[in-house]
Formats: sequence, C-alpha cells, structure tokens
Amino acid sequence: MSPIIDTVERNNRDPEIKKAEAAMFKLFWPEVRGNYFFRNRRVYMDFLKSGDGKIYYMPQQSLTIPAFVLVGNWRDRTDITALWYVKGVGLAKKSLVMEAAGECFNSGAEKMVTKLLGEYEAAEFRQWGFKKACRIVLFEKRLADRPGIAGQPVGIRLSRFRKSMLEKVLKVDSSSFDDFWRLDDRTLEAIASSCRRNVFLVAQRGNQVVGYAVAGANGSLGYLQRLGVERGSHGQGIGRLLCSAVLRTLYDMGTTVVMVNTQEDNQVGLRLYDKLGFRELLDTRYIMQYEANDYRRVS
Ligand SMILES: CC(C)(COP(=O)(O)OP(=O)(O)OC[C@H]1O[C@@H](n2cnc3c(N)ncnc32)[C@H](O)[C@@H]1OP(=O)(O)O)[C@@H](O)C(=O)NCCC(=O)NCCS
Repeated sequence: MSPIIDTVERNNRDPEIKKAEAAMFKLFWPEVRGNYFFRNRRVYMDFLKSGDGKIYYMPQQSLTIPAFVLVGNWRDRTDITALWYVKGVGLAKKSLVMEAAGECFNSGAEKMVTKLLGEYEAAEFRQWGFKKACRIVLFEKRLADRPGIAGQPVGIRLSRFRKSMLEKVLKVDSSSFDDFWRLDDRTLEAIASSCRRNVFLVAQRGNQVVGYAVAGANGSLGYLQRLGVERGSHGQGIGRLLCSAVLRTLYDMGTTVVMVNTQEDNQVGLRLYDKLGFRELLDTRYIMQYEANDYRRVS
C-alpha cells in the first residue's frame, strides 16, 4: 500500500487518502460490479492491473469497503482521466475526487471527466471547480407495434456483427464521432455486452462496413447504445435503416420502451431521433470536466 500523500493530515479537515495496491483490488469489486464498463471481475482486474485504472481510498474509515474513487483512462486516451466510480459523500467524496484529480494531472492527464450525472450531482462537482463538458438529452420511444423497416438504400445490406469486422467498425466509429466520443475496442465490447440481451448490426456496402448500431434490452426496457455511419455515407438513409432494424429486434426481444441519448448540440442525431418518433424527456444529464490548468491555478 503506497501513501500518495503524507500520512500526516494536511489540515484538520483533509483526511488521509491512499492509493490501493494490487492486493486490495478485490476488496472494491463488490461495489463496482454492475457498472457497465466493468461487466465482470476479469475486465475490472485487467483494467487496474494494466495500470490504466487506479483506486484511491480512505483507510481510516471503519467500513467493510471504505470510501474510494476509481479513475482511469477515458477510452484509449491517456490525456483524459475518467472518474469511473465514486463511493463516498460530502467531504470524503470531495477529498477523494480532488486528490485523484491532482494525482492524474501530475501523471500527465490534461483533464478529468465524470460519467453522466444528474442535475444535483453536477452542481456538486461545479462547486469543486468542474465545468460542464456537455449536456446530454434523453429520449424515449414506446413500441406499441412492431416497427417497420425503413427503405433500404441501394447497395446496402445489414448483417450481424462478427469479430472479424471489429477493425472496420472502429474505423467507421472514428470517422463518424469526434475525438472525445470515439470508441476503443474495449469500450465497444463493453457497450455491446452491457445488457442482458444485445444486438449489434452493421451496414455494409460490398465488403465495406459503412455503419453500425448497438442496442440492448433488460427486460422490457431497451437502449439504443450507439449508432454511427461513416462520414462519406451520411444522408443516404443508412442511419435510419440501422435504427429501424434495431428497434424491430428490440421489439422482438420483448422491449416496450427504448431509451437513447445524445449531446444537446448533435443536431443530426436530435433530428433523427425526433423523426423516428422518440420523445425528449425533461430529465437531463451532464458530463462535467476539470482541467489541469484550472487545478493548477487554485492549488
Ligand atoms: C446520426 C447519423 C447516424 C445519421 O446517419 P445518416 O445515415 O446520415 O442518416 P440518414 O441518412 O438515415 O438520415 C436520417 C435522418 O437524420 C437526419 N439527418 C441526416 N443528415 C442530416 C443533416 N445533414 N442535417 C440534419 N439532419 C440530418 C434527418 O432527420 C434524416 O431524416 P430525413 O432525411 O427524413 O430528414 C450520422 O450522422 C452519424 O454517424 N453521426 C455521428 C454519430 C452520431 O451522432 N450518432 C448518433 C447519436 S449518438
């Protein structure tokens, strides 16, 4: 166990925080289980053991699992750290988050981002110096009847994803999403197996993959998780085709409500979901970010 700060408390309020060593990773697993990114213990242990992820905790807490934060690379970005999991409230939470941020910035990260937060939690992070990275709009669609399949653009066929297509799908992904949202193989795999039942469709033109959609269902609740069409093939009806095929598959799995979300400034995505009959919900989510420069200015 290696202390990351002097074990002497820096003032009367700041508690001691330590970085967990490999032998301790198992202790925190029961808390993290269920997070979509860590769908099983092997993924969780690999992430931490590879050094991509780190846990900071408060050893003096007399709890079976002490307050802790799990941070790690955002996808394949070593310059962005994600706050993957936080256990703790109030001052303990703030101290852990800020300590982890400082450690990550000292190791070269340029910013720290949160996962999707509700209004209340986003406001809490704002008080600590985080700023809004983006606002996420949530939509839902009720599937009363079996959805129809949109018209097939000429030369396009849909098929189920196969492992051999992975590289091509990642290429489509990086062509359609901007740098921050681009997926790496580990995150794509996590998303594609995050629900009890999952569907992963690709749109092909000849042997070329030009689009893909990932969705899943937990009982009657379905999620459209990811949709991308390569930049050069936009506006040809491929996105709509993929969506309609995924919605039909979800319906056939027993889904009655499908959720989807996108950033508030994704005009094309917003319009597409509106056209497909999704209804915007009042509820909203935020990703908050803390930049190394802001941290250095105040510390
Ligand atoms: C969103 C995306 C999948 C749409 O794929 P696409 O194949 O270009 O979409 P389609 O040609 O099927 O068009 C479907 C609808 O999207 C909207 N749309 C497509 N291109 C648009 C554009 N340039 N401007 C505004 N709306 C547009 C329209 O509502 C369109 O329906 P309409 O033609 O009846 O008006 C694609 O733009 C993309 O990959 N974007 C980046 C990733 C992304 O935003 N994913 C979804 C949100 S997470």
